Amino acid sequence: MSDGKKTGPVIAVDGPAASGKGTIARALAEHFGLPHMDTGMLYRAVALNLWRWGGDPAQEFEALRACDGAAFDASDPELRSEPVSKIASMISAYPSVRAALLKRQQDFASREGGAVLDGRDIGTVIAPDADVKLFVTATPEIRAERRLKELTGRGMNAHYEDVLADIRARDERDSGREVAPLKPSDDALLLDTSELGPDQAVAKALQLVDERLASTAS
Ligand code: CDP
Repeated sequence: MSDGKKTGPVIAVDGPAASGKGTIARALAEHFGLPHMDTGMLYRAVALNLWRWGGDPAQEFEALRACDGAAFDASDPELRSEPVSKIASMISAYPSVRAALLKRQQDFASREGGAVLDGRDIGTVIAPDADVKLFVTATPEIRAERRLKELTGRGMNAHYEDVLADIRARDERDSGREVAPLKPSDDALLLDTSELGPDQAVAKALQLVDERLASTAS
C-alpha cells in the first residue's frame, strides 16, 4: 500500500463459493510468506454463534448481536456445516453485520509486511488499494462438483442437484445484495478455474500475481 514505507504486498482474492479462492489464497500466502485471512470464517463464526443461540437469521438485530465476541476455532467442523453455511450467506447481506466485521479485516489488510485476504469484497471494500486483486471464478456446475466432493469426503451425505441449487442460490444472494455485492473491481485480474485442477490454478494465480507485482515495481 502506498504509505511510503517498504512493505510486502497486499493481495486480495475474491470469488464465489467453491471457485478455488481459498486454496489459491493459502498457496499465495505460503509462497510470499504473508499472513492469510479467510474472511468467510468471520461470517461463519457469526452464523455459528447465532445458530447455537437459536437466533433468527431473518432478523438483522439478532445477527448483529451474534457478532459480539464471535471468536472461532478454525478447526471446528460446525463452521463448515450446511446450516451454518446457509446462515452465513444470509447474515452477510446485513449492512450492520458487515460494518461490525469491517475493522478486523481492514486492520489485517493494513498490517506492516503485507497480507493475503480472501472473500467476496476484499478488492472492492476491504482493501481497495491492494497491490494485486484476483477474482477467481468457475462455472456453477464445476463448483457444485467440487463442493459435492468436499462434502462426501467429509463423510456427509449430499446430492449433486441439491448442491448445485445451493450454489446458485448463494451466488444470487452474494451478487444481488445491496451492500458489498460480489463483483470484480475494475482492476481485478480474472482467473477462471473451470478447466484447472488445484495445482494448475495455483500456478496460474502465482504467474498473474508475479506479473502484476513486476509491472508495478518500478
Ligand atoms: O466459499 P464459501 O462460499 O463456501 O464460503 P466462505 O467464503 O467461507 O463464505 C461464507 C459466506 O460468507 C458466503 O456465503 C458469503 O456470502 C459470505 N462472505 C461475505 O459476504 N463476504 C466475505 N468477505 C466473505 C464471505
